[in-house]
Amino acid sequence: MDLRPADLRTMTPEVFRVFGIQNALLTAGDRTGCNTMTIGWCQLGRLWGLNTCTVYVRPERYTYQFMEDHDYFTVSVLPLSHKQTTMQVCGTQSGRDLDKIKTCGLTLRYGAGEAPFFDEAEWVLVCKKLYAQDMTPECVKDERIFQSYTPAKGGWHRLYVGEVLEAYQK
Ligand SMILES: Cc1cc2nc3c(=O)[nH]c(=O)nc-3n(C[C@H](O)[C@H](O)[C@H](O)COP(=O)(O)O)c2cc1C
Repeated sequence: MDLRPADLRTMTPEVFRVFGIQNALLTAGDRTGCNTMTIGWCQLGRLWGLNTCTVYVRPERYTYQFMEDHDYFTVSVLPLSHKQTTMQVCGTQSGRDLDKIKTCGLTLRYGAGEAPFFDEAEWVLVCKKLYAQDMTPECVKDERIFQSYTPAKGGWHRLYVGEVLEAYQK
């Protein structure tokens, strides 16, 4: 077990670099079943006086139902060396067709609420859902947003704000 509990107050993730380049794995489920997918959209910050992490999931994703059915989710940031392997597989294949966790040789661990995450990660956040909301075209203030919602790209994301309950770091 390489990951150790970390103090969120002293973690200083370079969020623009990490989520823009390394990306992360969003995982939801429990010990009986879970799914993971690559995400590039993620925010960390303070909301409602809490430490929060917000992720964005299109309804087409297999992960979507796991997010709906479970109260917890995790964000695992893997080393850049996983970019062409794990991150590629988990960002292009669906858990409907493939056991991505097994295929990528990822080691499951469980945090608060039995939320699954991966021991290969550089750092991990374990979150409890606080709020979920669908993004809608009516709320768009800049035309560039619509580039993300072509028929080929898919439906409008549901955003999930989670309270960060636990952090782990190498
Ligand atoms: C770099 C990268 C970032 C991605 N970011 C997101 C994201 O933030 N939200 C999302 O819904 N899909 C995102 N995707 C797409 C999903 O990872 C992809 O559709 C995945 O195969 C879904 O798997 P699932 O069907 O098992 O849930 C991203 C893909 C890549 C390659």
